[in-house]
Amino acid sequence: MKSSVLLGGGLILRAAAGRADTATPAAAPANSTLNTLQSLRTIHGNFADQPLPDSALEAILRTSLRAANASNSQSYSIIVVKDRQLMRDVCGYAGSCLLLYCADYSRMKVCAQSLGYTYEPGTIVDFVTATINAALVAQTAVIAAKSLGIDSLLTNGIHRGDIERHWKLLELPPEHCFPIIALVLGYPTQEPAFQRGRLDGTGVIHTGKYRPLSKVEADEITRRYDDKSLHIGSEDWDANGYAHYLDWYLKDWVHADRKITAETPMLRRLKRSGFVEFPAG
Ligand SMILES: Cc1cc2nc3c(=O)[nH]c(=O)nc-3n(C[C@H](O)[C@H](O)[C@H](O)COP(=O)(O)O)c2cc1C
Repeated sequence: MKSSVLLGGGLILRAAAGRADTATPAAAPANSTLNTLQSLRTIHGNFADQPLPDSALEAILRTSLRAANASNSQSYSIIVVKDRQLMRDVCGYAGSCLLLYCADYSRMKVCAQSLGYTYEPGTIVDFVTATINAALVAQTAVIAAKSLGIDSLLTNGIHRGDIERHWKLLELPPEHCFPIIALVLGYPTQEPAFQRGRLDGTGVIHTGKYRPLSKVEADEITRRYDDKSLHIGSEDWDANGYAHYLDWYLKDWVHADRKITAETPMLRRLKRSGFVEFPAG
Protein backbone atom coordinates (compact mmCIF):
# COMPACT_ATOMS: atom_id res chain seq x y z
CA MET A 1 0.00 0.00 0.00
CA LYS A 2 1.22 3.53 -0.72
CA SER A 3 0.64 6.79 1.07
CA SER A 4 0.71 9.94 -1.04
CA VAL A 5 2.00 13.42 -0.33
CA LEU A 6 1.77 16.49 -2.51
CA LEU A 7 5.30 17.64 -3.12
CA GLY A 8 7.46 19.05 -5.91
CA GLY A 9 5.61 19.28 -9.21
CA GLY A 10 2.74 16.99 -8.30
CA LEU A 11 1.70 13.88 -6.52
CA ILE A 12 4.66 11.85 -5.29
CA LEU A 13 4.07 8.33 -4.15
CA ARG A 14 5.86 7.26 -1.04
CA ALA A 15 6.24 3.73 0.18
CA ALA A 16 4.47 3.07 3.47
CA ALA A 17 6.94 3.32 6.33
CA GLY A 18 9.31 0.41 6.61
CA ARG A 19 8.34 -1.28 3.32
CA ALA A 20 10.32 -1.55 0.12
CA ASP A 21 8.30 -0.60 -2.96
CA THR A 22 9.72 -1.69 -6.27
CA ALA A 23 7.11 0.37 -8.18
CA THR A 24 8.61 3.62 -6.82
CA PRO A 25 11.95 4.27 -8.56
CA ALA A 26 13.34 6.76 -6.06
CA ALA A 27 11.50 6.67 -2.77
CA ALA A 28 11.27 10.09 -1.11
CA PRO A 29 13.47 10.19 1.99
CA ALA A 30 11.57 9.88 5.24
CA ASN A 31 12.56 10.38 8.85
CA SER A 32 11.06 11.84 12.00
CA THR A 33 12.35 15.38 11.26
CA LEU A 34 10.82 15.36 7.76
CA ASN A 35 7.61 13.93 9.20
CA THR A 36 7.44 16.75 11.75
CA LEU A 37 7.98 19.31 8.97
CA GLN A 38 5.36 17.65 6.77
CA SER A 39 2.85 17.79 9.63
CA LEU A 40 3.17 21.55 10.16
CA ARG A 41 -0.02 23.55 9.95
CA THR A 42 -1.23 26.71 11.57
CA ILE A 43 -3.89 26.88 14.24
CA HIS A 44 -5.85 29.99 13.42
CA GLY A 45 -6.60 31.25 16.88
CA ASN A 46 -8.66 28.57 18.58
CA PHE A 47 -6.21 27.54 21.29
CA ALA A 48 -7.24 25.90 24.58
CA ASP A 49 -6.75 27.77 27.84
CA GLN A 50 -4.05 25.34 28.96
CA PRO A 51 -0.53 26.17 30.16
CA LEU A 52 2.61 24.87 28.47
CA PRO A 53 4.89 22.81 30.70
CA ASP A 54 7.82 25.05 31.70
CA SER A 55 10.23 22.36 30.51
CA ALA A 56 8.67 22.40 27.03
CA LEU A 57 8.81 26.18 26.77
CA GLU A 58 12.41 26.15 27.92
CA ALA A 59 13.30 23.46 25.35
CA ILE A 60 11.54 25.38 22.54
CA LEU A 61 13.28 28.63 23.41
CA ARG A 62 16.74 27.16 23.89
CA THR A 63 16.62 24.85 20.87
CA SER A 64 15.32 27.57 18.58
CA LEU A 65 18.40 29.65 19.39
CA ARG A 66 20.34 27.11 17.31
CA ALA A 67 18.95 28.81 14.18
CA ALA A 68 21.64 30.35 12.01
CA ASN A 69 22.07 34.09 12.39
CA ALA A 70 24.32 36.66 10.76
CA SER A 71 27.77 36.91 12.41
CA ASN A 72 26.27 35.02 15.36
CA SER A 73 25.17 38.44 16.55
CA GLN A 74 21.65 37.24 17.47
CA SER A 75 20.26 40.65 16.60
CA TYR A 76 16.86 39.77 18.06
CA SER A 77 15.06 39.68 21.37
CA ILE A 78 12.26 37.31 22.30
CA ILE A 79 9.59 38.49 24.71
CA VAL A 80 7.68 35.70 26.46
CA VAL A 81 4.09 36.63 27.34
CA LYS A 82 1.92 34.29 29.42
CA ASP A 83 -0.98 36.61 30.25
CA ARG A 84 -3.79 35.84 27.80
CA GLN A 85 -5.22 39.36 27.78
CA LEU A 86 -1.77 40.79 27.11
CA MET A 87 -1.33 38.27 24.28
CA ARG A 88 -4.59 39.51 22.71
CA ASP A 89 -3.58 43.13 23.16
CA VAL A 90 -0.24 42.48 21.51
CA CYS A 91 -1.25 40.32 18.53
CA GLY A 92 -5.02 39.76 18.56
CA TYR A 93 -4.76 36.07 19.51
CA ALA A 94 -4.23 34.10 22.73
CA GLY A 95 -2.84 30.65 23.42
CA SER A 96 -0.75 29.02 26.12
CA CYS A 97 2.12 31.40 25.50
CA LEU A 98 3.15 34.15 23.12
CA LEU A 99 6.68 34.70 21.90
CA LEU A 100 7.26 38.10 20.35
CA TYR A 101 10.29 38.25 18.10
CA CYS A 102 11.88 41.66 17.72
CA ALA A 103 14.73 42.79 15.53
CA ASP A 104 16.92 44.23 18.24
CA TYR A 105 20.34 45.84 18.40
CA SER A 106 19.91 47.49 21.79
CA ARG A 107 21.70 44.72 23.68
CA MET A 108 24.73 45.14 21.39
CA LYS A 109 24.46 48.91 21.71
CA VAL A 110 24.64 48.74 25.49
CA CYS A 111 27.68 46.45 25.28
CA ALA A 112 29.28 48.80 22.74
CA GLN A 113 28.67 51.81 24.97
CA SER A 114 30.12 50.08 27.98
CA LEU A 115 33.31 49.53 25.95
CA GLY A 116 33.35 53.16 24.84
CA TYR A 117 32.08 52.70 21.27
CA THR A 118 29.36 54.62 19.52
CA TYR A 119 27.32 52.03 17.60
CA GLU A 120 24.47 53.11 15.34
CA PRO A 121 23.04 50.02 13.66
CA GLY A 122 20.61 52.06 11.61
CA THR A 123 20.93 50.92 8.00
CA ILE A 124 18.37 49.05 5.93
CA VAL A 125 20.91 46.22 5.77
CA ASP A 126 20.93 46.08 9.59
CA PHE A 127 17.13 45.95 9.63
CA VAL A 128 16.85 43.26 6.96
CA THR A 129 19.57 41.20 8.65
CA ALA A 130 17.89 41.38 12.06
CA THR A 131 14.52 40.56 10.46
CA ILE A 132 15.98 37.44 8.86
CA ASN A 133 17.59 36.41 12.15
CA ALA A 134 14.30 36.91 14.02
CA ALA A 135 12.23 35.03 11.42
CA LEU A 136 14.59 32.06 11.40
CA VAL A 137 14.60 31.70 15.17
CA ALA A 138 10.79 31.99 15.18
CA GLN A 139 10.31 29.27 12.56
CA THR A 140 12.81 27.06 14.38
CA ALA A 141 10.66 27.47 17.50
CA VAL A 142 7.61 26.41 15.47
CA ILE A 143 9.38 23.19 14.49
CA ALA A 144 10.72 22.54 17.98
CA ALA A 145 7.21 23.04 19.40
CA LYS A 146 5.62 20.70 16.85
CA SER A 147 8.17 18.00 17.68
CA LEU A 148 6.87 18.19 21.26
CA GLY A 149 3.20 18.04 20.17
CA ILE A 150 2.64 21.78 20.64
CA ASP A 151 0.89 23.71 17.88
CA SER A 152 1.38 27.27 16.81
CA LEU A 153 0.29 30.39 14.98
CA LEU A 154 2.75 32.84 13.50
CA THR A 155 1.03 36.19 13.18
CA ASN A 156 1.76 39.68 12.01
CA GLY A 157 -1.27 40.85 13.99
CA ILE A 158 1.34 42.89 15.86
CA HIS A 159 1.48 45.19 12.83
CA ARG A 160 -2.29 45.76 12.78
CA GLY A 161 -3.82 48.56 14.81
CA ASP A 162 -1.76 51.06 16.76
CA ILE A 163 1.83 49.87 16.37
CA GLU A 164 2.93 52.22 19.17
CA ARG A 165 1.16 50.00 21.72
CA HIS A 166 4.11 47.60 21.88
CA TRP A 167 6.41 50.29 23.23
CA LYS A 168 3.84 51.00 25.96
CA LEU A 169 2.64 47.46 26.76
CA LEU A 170 6.04 45.76 26.63
CA GLU A 171 8.34 48.72 27.26
CA LEU A 172 10.38 48.04 24.13
CA PRO A 173 13.54 50.12 23.82
CA PRO A 174 12.75 53.34 21.92
CA GLU A 175 15.53 52.77 19.39
CA HIS A 176 16.94 49.84 17.42
CA CYS A 177 14.20 47.43 18.45
CA PHE A 178 11.22 46.59 16.25
CA PRO A 179 8.64 43.76 16.56
CA ILE A 180 8.85 41.43 13.56
CA ILE A 181 6.58 38.46 14.21
CA ALA A 182 4.56 36.92 17.04
CA LEU A 183 4.34 33.20 17.70
CA VAL A 184 1.38 31.88 19.66
CA LEU A 185 1.98 28.41 21.08
CA GLY A 186 -0.62 26.06 22.46
CA TYR A 187 -3.06 23.23 22.00
CA PRO A 188 -5.93 23.51 19.52
CA THR A 189 -9.51 23.26 20.76
CA GLN A 190 -10.34 21.77 17.38
CA GLU A 191 -8.23 20.07 14.72
CA PRO A 192 -8.12 21.95 11.40
CA ALA A 193 -10.34 20.27 8.81
CA PHE A 194 -7.45 20.03 6.34
CA GLN A 195 -3.79 20.90 5.85
CA ARG A 196 -3.24 23.86 3.52
CA GLY A 197 -1.51 23.03 0.24
CA ARG A 198 1.30 24.97 -1.34
CA LEU A 199 2.20 26.15 -4.80
CA ASP A 200 5.35 24.38 -5.85
CA GLY A 201 7.42 23.78 -8.95
CA THR A 202 6.95 26.32 -11.77
CA GLY A 203 7.09 29.92 -10.63
CA VAL A 204 8.23 28.98 -7.12
CA ILE A 205 11.36 26.92 -7.68
CA HIS A 206 13.66 28.17 -10.45
CA THR A 207 16.46 25.89 -11.52
CA GLY A 208 19.71 27.53 -12.57
CA LYS A 209 18.23 30.98 -13.17
CA TYR A 210 15.03 32.90 -12.66
CA ARG A 211 12.38 32.19 -15.28
CA PRO A 212 9.33 34.51 -15.44
CA LEU A 213 5.92 32.89 -15.82
CA SER A 214 4.33 32.56 -19.24
CA LYS A 215 0.64 33.46 -19.59
CA VAL A 216 -0.23 29.74 -19.73
CA GLU A 217 1.74 29.09 -16.53
CA ALA A 218 0.13 32.09 -14.79
CA ASP A 219 -3.30 30.75 -15.75
CA GLU A 220 -2.35 27.35 -14.37
CA ILE A 221 -1.39 28.96 -11.07
CA THR A 222 -4.72 30.80 -11.00
CA ARG A 223 -6.38 27.42 -11.61
CA ARG A 224 -4.46 25.83 -8.75
CA TYR A 225 -5.62 28.57 -6.37
CA ASP A 226 -9.18 27.91 -7.55
CA ASP A 227 -8.89 24.15 -7.01
CA LYS A 228 -10.42 23.74 -3.59
CA SER A 229 -9.10 20.22 -3.19
CA LEU A 230 -5.56 21.70 -3.00
CA HIS A 231 -6.54 24.07 -0.15
CA ILE A 232 -4.05 26.74 -1.24
CA GLY A 233 -6.44 29.69 -1.29
CA SER A 234 -9.10 30.39 1.33
CA GLU A 235 -12.39 28.72 0.73
CA ASP A 236 -15.24 31.16 0.23
CA TRP A 237 -14.16 33.41 -2.66
CA ASP A 238 -16.79 32.09 -5.10
CA ALA A 239 -19.58 32.58 -2.57
CA ASN A 240 -18.64 36.26 -2.70
CA GLY A 241 -19.26 36.35 -6.45
CA TYR A 242 -15.67 36.19 -7.71
CA ALA A 243 -14.63 34.19 -10.78
CA HIS A 244 -11.28 33.24 -9.26
CA TYR A 245 -9.70 33.06 -5.81
CA LEU A 246 -7.09 35.58 -7.00
CA ASP A 247 -9.88 38.08 -7.89
CA TRP A 248 -10.91 37.97 -4.24
CA TYR A 249 -7.30 38.04 -3.00
CA LEU A 250 -6.24 40.99 -5.14
CA LYS A 251 -9.41 43.06 -4.76
CA ASP A 252 -10.67 42.31 -1.24
CA TRP A 253 -7.62 41.09 0.65
CA VAL A 254 -4.55 42.99 -0.51
CA HIS A 255 -6.42 45.85 -2.23
CA ALA A 256 -4.06 45.71 -5.19
CA ASP A 257 -5.22 49.08 -6.53
CA ARG A 258 -4.46 50.87 -3.23
CA LYS A 259 -2.17 53.90 -3.45
CA ILE A 260 0.01 54.97 -0.52
CA THR A 261 -0.55 58.69 -0.20
CA ALA A 262 0.98 59.44 3.21
CA GLU A 263 3.66 58.12 5.53
CA THR A 264 2.40 54.95 7.21
CA PRO A 265 2.56 54.46 11.01
CA MET A 266 4.98 51.58 10.40
CA LEU A 267 7.39 53.72 8.39
CA ARG A 268 7.11 56.48 11.00
CA ARG A 269 7.99 53.99 13.76
CA LEU A 270 10.83 52.47 11.73
CA LYS A 271 12.28 55.95 11.38
CA ARG A 272 11.84 56.64 15.10
CA SER A 273 13.49 53.32 15.88
CA GLY A 274 16.47 54.39 13.81
CA PHE A 275 16.06 51.73 11.12
CA VAL A 276 15.62 54.00 8.11
CA GLU A 277 18.94 55.30 6.97
CA PHE A 278 19.49 58.95 6.21
CA PRO A 279 22.72 59.57 4.29
CA ALA A 280 25.01 62.02 6.10
CA GLY A 281 25.70 65.41 4.52
C1 LIG B 1 4.08 36.58 8.48
C2 LIG B 1 2.88 35.71 8.79
C3 LIG B 1 1.73 36.31 9.25
C4 LIG B 1 0.61 35.53 9.54
N1 LIG B 1 -0.47 36.11 10.13
C5 LIG B 1 -1.54 35.35 10.45
C6 LIG B 1 -2.64 35.95 11.13
O1 LIG B 1 -2.63 37.12 11.49
N2 LIG B 1 -3.70 35.16 11.41
C7 LIG B 1 -3.74 33.84 11.07
O2 LIG B 1 -4.74 33.18 11.36
N3 LIG B 1 -2.70 33.23 10.44
C8 LIG B 1 -1.60 33.97 10.13
N4 LIG B 1 -0.50 33.40 9.53
C9 LIG B 1 -0.54 31.97 9.20
C10 LIG B 1 -0.81 31.79 7.70
O3 LIG B 1 -2.13 32.18 7.40
C11 LIG B 1 -0.57 30.33 7.34
O4 LIG B 1 0.78 30.00 7.58
C12 LIG B 1 -0.90 30.06 5.87
O5 LIG B 1 -2.26 30.27 5.60
C13 LIG B 1 -0.55 28.63 5.50
O6 LIG B 1 -1.25 27.75 6.34
P1 LIG B 1 -0.50 26.62 7.18
O7 LIG B 1 0.57 27.29 8.00
O8 LIG B 1 -1.58 26.00 8.03
O9 LIG B 1 0.07 25.66 6.20
C14 LIG B 1 0.64 34.14 9.28
C15 LIG B 1 1.82 33.54 8.83
C16 LIG B 1 2.94 34.32 8.60
C17 LIG B 1 4.24 33.64 8.17
